[in-house]
Amino acid sequence: MISTLQSRMLRGADGDAAPRLAYGADYNPEQWPRDVWEEDVRLMQEAGVTVVSVGIFSWARIQPGPDTWDFGWLDEVMDLLHAGGIGVDLATATASPPPWLTTAHPEILPVTANGETLWPGARQHWRPTSPVFREHALRLVREIAGRYKDHPALVAWHVSNELGCHNVYDYSDDAARAFRLWLRARYGTLDALNHAWGTAFWSQRYSDWEQILPPRLAASHPNPTQQLDFKRFSSDALKDHLVAEREILREITPGVPVTTNFMVMGGTKGMNYPDWAGEIDFVSNDHYVHPGPQDRDELSFSANLVSGIASGRPWFLMEHSTSAVNWQSVNVAKRPGDLARDSLLHVAHGADAVCFFQWRQSAAGAEKYHSAMVPHAGADSDLFRAVADLGAKLKALAPVAGSEREAAAVGILYDWESWWASEQDSHPTSLLDYRQEALDWYSALLALGVRADLVTTGADLSRHQVLVAPVLHMVPAGLAKDLTRYAEQGGHLVITYFSGVVDENDHVWLGGYPGALRDLLGIRIEEFGPLLAGESVELDDSTRGTLWTDRITVADGATDVLAHYRSGVHAGRPAVTRRSTGDGSASYVSTRLGVDGLRSLLPRLLEPAGVSSELPSQARGSVELTVRRGPEGRFLFLVNRTDETVRVPGFDGEVLLGARDAEGSLVLGPREVVVLRRPAV
Ligand code: GLA
Ligand code: GLA
Repeated sequence: MISTLQSRMLRGADGDAAPRLAYGADYNPEQWPRDVWEEDVRLMQEAGVTVVSVGIFSWARIQPGPDTWDFGWLDEVMDLLHAGGIGVDLATATASPPPWLTTAHPEILPVTANGETLWPGARQHWRPTSPVFREHALRLVREIAGRYKDHPALVAWHVSNELGCHNVYDYSDDAARAFRLWLRARYGTLDALNHAWGTAFWSQRYSDWEQILPPRLAASHPNPTQQLDFKRFSSDALKDHLVAEREILREITPGVPVTTNFMVMGGTKGMNYPDWAGEIDFVSNDHYVHPGPQDRDELSFSANLVSGIASGRPWFLMEHSTSAVNWQSVNVAKRPGDLARDSLLHVAHGADAVCFFQWRQSAAGAEKYHSAMVPHAGADSDLFRAVADLGAKLKALAPVAGSEREAAAVGILYDWESWWASEQDSHPTSLLDYRQEALDWYSALLALGVRADLVTTGADLSRHQVLVAPVLHMVPAGLAKDLTRYAEQGGHLVITYFSGVVDENDHVWLGGYPGALRDLLGIRIEEFGPLLAGESVELDDSTRGTLWTDRITVADGATDVLAHYRSGVHAGRPAVTRRSTGDGSASYVSTRLGVDGLRSLLPRLLEPAGVSSELPSQARGSVELTVRRGPEGRFLFLVNRTDETVRVPGFDGEVLLGARDAEGSLVLGPREVVVLRRPAV
C-alpha cells in the first residue's frame, strides 16, 4: 500500500524506521544566527518533528551572483538535521528570484491585465512562460540536486512553492507568445479556433495567429472562450514549469519523490490541481483557516477535496498554521484545542504528514506576525506545549500511515472547468459562487452526519450510490454520457441550477436548458430566473431559495416534482424534480437552498439510495466521521465539531486516540478527535 517513494517520507531516507505520520514545518535557518540552529534541532526532537522543508526562499543566499554559489551554510543545516534524526524535504529554491537576476533581466517580471509590471520586493515575481527565468531556475535546480543527491537527510524534493500563488495570470509578451503556441496545439487551425471562440460575434475573427493576445484590459467583456482558454493555458504554463523542474530531479535522483505544495483552500482556483496531480509522486497541500461561520466545514471540505485530487491515496499537509496568520484583515489566534483538531481533521481525510508554516516565528519581514511552531515567546509557551502534545498524538497514530480513503456512499463532484466557466462575466448573475454552493451541500451532509467524498471529474463515479454535482455548468458530450450511464446503472444523480448549460467551448446546448442533461432529468427550462441580492422565494416544502430560480416544464409523468415554488413569478411551478432512469434516478434542484434548506431536502434525495447516517442519532451533526483503510486496519476518525463534550455509544474498536467512559461510549471533549482501529476486512 505504501509506495517506495512515500515510504521514504514516512520512514526517513535510511528506510529502517517503522512508518509513522510525518510531522514538521518549513524551516528557514537563514533567518537566524548559527547558534540558534542547534537549539532548533533540539526543540524539533522535543516536539517529535520528523521532517522539515528547507531552502524554499533561499535562492539569493545559495546563489549570491550569476556565477557564485554558497552552499556551506546549507551543508551544515542538512548535516545538523540528519544528525538529529530529521528528514529534509529539500526545496528547489526557485520560488523567489534574487535581486541580481531581476536587475539583469527585468523581462522576467509578470505583467497584469492592465499592463502594470509586478516589481521585485515581495516574492514569486516571475513569468511562468519566461525562457530567461526558466533557464536560470533550471540551472539552480541542477546545482542543488547535484549537490544533495546522496545526502542522507534528503527524503523528498519540494518544487518551488505554491506555484501560481501570486503569478498565475501573466499577460506579458512572453505569455502572449506561449498562449499562441498553446492554442495552435489545442485547435490546429485558425478556423477551429474561430469556431470555438465564436469570433463571428463582435467582429473578432482572426486571420493570423499573431493577432491573438491574452485577454488584456479591454473596452468591454473580453471573449468568454478566450478567457476560459487563458485560464486553461495559465494552469498548463505553471504545470509545464513544474514538469521541467521535476525532469531534472528525476534524472539526478530517480529514487527521491517529488512534490509541490498545492493550495486547495478558499479563494484559490487558478490551478487545475486534478490535472497536475499525475505529475508528482505524492500530493501536498497548504491550508489556512478563514475564520467565519463555516470555517471548519471549509477545512474538512478542502482536506476532503485534496484526498479526491490524490485519488484517495495519502497526501501531505505541507503547511497550515499553529495559530494566527498575517495576511487576513484581522488575524485571529486559534483557541485551545484548535491546533490539534485542525491538524487531525486533515489526517482524518488522508494526510500522512502534518506540517506548518513555519518552524520558528520570524523576527523580521512580512510574516513576523504569522504564528509558527516556536512562537516569539519561545519554547516556554502554551503554543509550543500544544505543538509537542500534537507530536505525541501523531506518534500514537503511526499505524494510520499509508492507509487510504474508504469510499463513502455519497460523492460530491467538483469540476474545475465548471468552476472556471460558471463564474465568468456577462452571465445571468455575478453572484454565483461555485465553491460556496459545493461547500453548502457538504455542510448540510456534515450536519446530517452523512459521510461524503469530494471527487473530481474523471474519477470512478460508480463507487458512490449518490452523486451530487452542484452547478455542473460545463458538460461536454462525453460527460453527459457518463452521467446518464451512472444513473441508468443504479446511481442517484443530483444536479443543481445552471448545470449542463454549455459545452467545452462555452457554447450553449440549444433547445431548452439544461441542454446536455435535459432528457436525463426529464425537464425543460426556457428562461433562467436569477434573483436579486436579498430576494428569496418560498418552496412548498417550507425551504427558501435565493440567487436563482428556473421556469421548469416537466417532460412527462415520469418526472416527479419533489417541491414546487410557493412564491415568486414561478409560484405553482416545479422547483425540485426527480426522474427515474434505468436502476437509478436524476434529480434537479433549481434554486440555492443554503445549508439549512439542503439539510431539510437531503433525506428525500438520499432515500431512494437507502443512504443515511452511520452515526448514532445523538452524534449526528456534532461529530464528523471519516474512514481510512490500510493493511494495519480500518481507521475511524470521529471529530467533535462542537464546543461541548459529545458521547458516542455503540462504536467498537481499539482506541488509538481518545477515551471511553464506564459504559463504553466514546468521549469526545470539545473539539477533540477520537481514532479507532478495527480489523482490516
Ligand atoms: C448595446 C449595444 C448592443 C448590445 C446591447 C446589449 O445596446 O449596442 O450591441 O451589446 O448593448 O444590451
Ligand atoms: C503560504 C506560503 C508560505 C507562507 C504562508 C503564510 O502558504 O507558502 O511561504 O507565506 O503562506 O500563511
